[in-house]
Amino acid sequence: MAGKRGALIVLEGVDRAGKSTQSRRLVEGLRAAGMRAELLRFPERTTEIGRLISSYLEKKSNLEDHTVHLLFSANRWEQVPLIKEKLNCGINLVVERYAFSGVAFTSAKENFSLDWCKQPDVGLPKPDLILFLQLSTSEAAKRGDFGNERYENTFFQEKVLQCFHHLMTDKTLNWKTIDASKSIEDLHDEIKSIAEKVIQKVQPKPIGELWK
Ligand SMILES: Nc1ncnc2c1ncn2[C@@H]1O[C@H](COP(=O)(O)OP(=O)(O)O)[C@@H](O)[C@H]1O
Ligand SMILES: [Mg+2]
Repeated sequence: MAGKRGALIVLEGVDRAGKSTQSRRLVEGLRAAGMRAELLRFPERTTEIGRLISSYLEKKSNLEDHTVHLLFSANRWEQVPLIKEKLNCGINLVVERYAFSGVAFTSAKENFSLDWCKQPDVGLPKPDLILFLQLSTSEAAKRGDFGNERYENTFFQEKVLQCFHHLMTDKTLNWKTIDASKSIEDLHDEIKSIAEKVIQKVQPKPIGELWK
């Protein structure tokens, strides 16, 4: 059928909420159901910009806060031609973290307004669905310790969570909050069922522009 495009599905959530687990499972589940699906994750660490970000996250280098924010955004923009190409040829994209993480992490720092943080990502392909995996700090702690990367501490993550909640009040976006304390299988079933409905619905619609 002409004009049949893939859906852009984003998974967001705090550290250890299950984003990696569920995005992988969703791609497998959609493929098993006969749909085309691929996984993307941000930051995409394999590009030149991605390597700068990775080194920053691993604390091997320091970057000025505005600069790193713009690099994270550029790291999404550099994938836009690929994202559009895939969606337009009917591939569903499951994306682990997107502009919402970018904005939440920088605006959790001192002296950054949410509005300034959003600007570089205005016009990115708009997700058809954003799944927010909600998990309390205490539940997350049961899943293991924080890693050693930058931002991996409770104080900062709490501030990030507040910023996410603010972004979720935007009714122009299709946010779905999921209780991430459930079992991996139950979560997968719930997520797959929501994703399948969205995939059916978006097929005749053009790709939107984020925050425009
Ligand atoms: N629903 C779940 N229940 C219990 N443990 C989980 C669940 N989902 C993921 N985990 C475990 O929690 C840890 C973090 O999961 P991960 O998918 O890497 O989270 P994230 O990508 O959001 O940081 C992993 O050890 C994973 O196996
Ligand atoms: Mg992960």
